Amino acid sequence: MPVSRMWFKRPQSTEIDLAFTAMNDALGQPPLMFVDLRPFSPPMVIVRSHHMPQVYGHMVHVTGPTSILAAHGEDWKQLRKRFNPGFAPQHLLTLLPCILEKSFVFLDHLDRFAHNGQSFSLVDLTGNLTFDIISGVVMDFDFGAQDVHRSSEFIRAYHELFQTYASEQMDLPWYLTPRVEWKRRQLAKRVRSTLEEIVRNTFANRQTQTTKSRSILSLSLQYYANELTAKAVSEACDQLSTLGHDTTNPNPSNVRDKLLSDEGKDLIHRITYTSAAIKEALRLWPPAGTARMVQPGVGVKVQAPHGEYSLDGVMVYNCAIMIQRDPKVFGETANDFVPERWLHEASDQIPVPAWRAFERGPRNCIGQELATLEARIVVALVARRYDFIKVGVGELSLDDADKPIEDTKGRFKVVSEMYSPIDGMVMRVRIQ
Ligand code: HEM
Repeated sequence: MPVSRMWFKRPQSTEIDLAFTAMNDALGQPPLMFVDLRPFSPPMVIVRSHHMPQVYGHMVHVTGPTSILAAHGEDWKQLRKRFNPGFAPQHLLTLLPCILEKSFVFLDHLDRFAHNGQSFSLVDLTGNLTFDIISGVVMDFDFGAQDVHRSSEFIRAYHELFQTYASEQMDLPWYLTPRVEWKRRQLAKRVRSTLEEIVRNTFANRQTQTTKSRSILSLSLQYYANELTAKAVSEACDQLSTLGHDTTNPNPSNVRDKLLSDEGKDLIHRITYTSAAIKEALRLWPPAGTARMVQPGVGVKVQAPHGEYSLDGVMVYNCAIMIQRDPKVFGETANDFVPERWLHEASDQIPVPAWRAFERGPRNCIGQELATLEARIVVALVARRYDFIKVGVGELSLDDADKPIEDTKGRFKVVSEMYSPIDGMVMRVRIQ
């Protein structure tokens, strides 16, 4: 199984997961692949098949030492218990007005771009929307990320902080990037002071107001009776930073025709189809994944054709993009956007663990209901009203009569292949 040197056809994209996929394909698609990137990262085992047993453990994260993502054992159990009620579907439905209010601001921006004809980054627009929705439902706080006239110091610091990670695909150790590390600490301090204030105010609100905030943060603070210690504030801030991570926003343009078709007229069907489209987008482009370091001495072993290997001291990475595009499960259309696969009876044939955008088991994503609720609302609102036209990377090829050209699979051909939103998804929008 260990590979010291190999050649593989480099994918066009710089997406590291696609590079891993190409390496795995070149090796004949083994279910586990050992990658040694030392000294840049610990030795890694990349999981391709959903059949492999999963390993849960400890993961270092930027969101603070007590973040729910990094916590384990009893600490994790307590945190999950504290936050579960806030993320329960019934509770999220009470926060629907907040989600809708922020979504309408997003539609205003799209209307503006439709009228002035300017191109814009859809990633920026949806990123700001997500920021506003999450801070609204989690903290009951309006940072105004979508407000072009408000330039919040908090948002600037937060974006800058995350930017320092976006450029570090390989997660280099801090001593190789001391300046970046110093910048991170400064920015994290600025973000932290605002979060501390919000936590203290929310707690004070619970103590003094008869109508208490219904935010996820407020619910999580109900476990503290009279006093909020500095440690409790710090822990709450760690969770707030964790909960702020990005959601994905599927491109709604492919969904629109189905929503408007005769068979799509009925609301239930539309919601079902929208959900299938979101699920399919998360299958092809899962925005998050799981990497767990198996602590030395734990004794985790795997059986491979050439013998048994120990995974102790190894980073186990469930490569969601590889697992979710496995041709053994998804067949010839493994790399194609086919929402219908989730609607037909044939979907019963897809093993449940083969789709794992929110991961599985007790450490699965606590925010998955919120993320899918948000995505369903936004796609449903947007797909009925707008046409999106990609410009730059992923732009449509046109024939002599300026008409899009279909490929053999009935999809429109593009000038250059679009893979993950490398260009920030620059596009234009038109009202239908
Ligand atoms: C499409 C959007 C999202 C995707 C694809 C996603 C994906 C994931 C994945 C794969 C994990 C497991 C990570 C691991 O095992 O290490 C995870 C965990 C988590 N996610 Fe999400 N997430 C999304 C949105 C959200 C949202 C909106 C929130 C909250 C506002 C959230 C909060 C969390 C938390 C707190 C955990 C850690 C849970 C635990 O360890 O108990 N996520 N997410």
